[in-house]
Amino acid sequence: MLEINQPFNFVAPPVLLNPASDSISVVVLPNGLATGWVEYGPTDALEQRCDGACRGQLPLSDQLLAFRLKDLKPGARYFYRVHLKPIHYTTAYSIKPGEEIRSDIHAFRTLDPTAESATFTVWNDTHEKEPTLGQLAANLIASPTHFLLWNGDITNNVSDGSKIISQFFAPTNHPFAADVPLFFSRGNHDVRGRDARLLAQYIAGPSGDYYYTFRHGPLAAIVLDAGEDKPDNLPVYAGLNSFDDYRTLQRSFLKKAIADPDFTGAPFRVLFVHMPLFWDAEILAHWPGVWGKDLNGNLINGWISEDARVKWHDLLVEGKIDLVISGHAHKSVYFPPNNEHPYGQLIGGGSEPAQARSIVGSVTASEMTIVVNDLDGQSVIRQSFTRGSLEFAERKRSR
Ligand SMILES: [Fe+2]
Ligand SMILES: [Fe+2]
Repeated sequence: MLEINQPFNFVAPPVLLNPASDSISVVVLPNGLATGWVEYGPTDALEQRCDGACRGQLPLSDQLLAFRLKDLKPGARYFYRVHLKPIHYTTAYSIKPGEEIRSDIHAFRTLDPTAESATFTVWNDTHEKEPTLGQLAANLIASPTHFLLWNGDITNNVSDGSKIISQFFAPTNHPFAADVPLFFSRGNHDVRGRDARLLAQYIAGPSGDYYYTFRHGPLAAIVLDAGEDKPDNLPVYAGLNSFDDYRTLQRSFLKKAIADPDFTGAPFRVLFVHMPLFWDAEILAHWPGVWGKDLNGNLINGWISEDARVKWHDLLVEGKIDLVISGHAHKSVYFPPNNEHPYGQLIGGGSEPAQARSIVGSVTASEMTIVVNDLDGQSVIRQSFTRGSLEFAERKRSR
């Protein structure tokens, strides 16, 4: 809420969310009750306008305004600027608009299924750590990619709904997603807290849920949500979790997704999911104590999602997934394909600056290169996946 004498302003730079080949969302946070609109267009003349009208009303909020820009061209660059106008609301018949303010002009590019290349950045397990977020954002702004995928554990928990705004849309002073659009993948900490169920009102995937697919150039992406990292029936959850069923539901979704021509026709296929499905290295000594035991007295292997693996693995093999990108373990490591899993399993870093990592992917029709960088920009893992022209032709034939 706007404090007395506090000038009306943006809480943070705008956030671009859920880009598609023909649309994108612009989310903006006012520091007091406001309406707003977005001017946009292919040049900085900004000749188009989105007023965000819904069911006959223009937006009005003291927290968050969201605008979906539609009918955009694939792979096209657009400039945009957000306008906010404070509204002094006394009663239903005493409403006075104030002086509007404008954001800087930013620019984005829509996705394009026919693009020759795709680049992306992945963050995970930032857990509200501002020094980490600030440096990750600065690095992304210096080396922008086509999109950013925030792969879960943005929060520690959503104890209070107002934290959603600050944690997901204003986690740093840097304009982290004002020019590079954001996709969100939910982590086990993001489902915790009294008000975690409010999250979907503010941020979810393009489908409105936390499992979805998108295609950008040679990359087909699937995003899934493995839910909590312990069984639903643990007393600590008080019977309020149903992630077992949610993972089963996503199996049905995955079955359809891997049969979609947009997916089968892509040279490279990546699954983004917060919880790893495999852990091929030694278990850290303190891990069994972290996750404890299930109701049968068995240790919970909570550094991976065994239930997600049981429910999704065969379909990931059938769908010829190249790579699963996860977080959660707070320890970055790459497990190459082996007899158990014909796809790679890459895991990002943790929230402390020394463990924080950004994963940067570059994809063409013949090669996908994944580089894992520390906060200083030093590469700590580099992995390439190649696709022979014969194999690509085979994939195209089997569409
Ligand atoms: Fe985490
Ligand atoms: Fe996690």
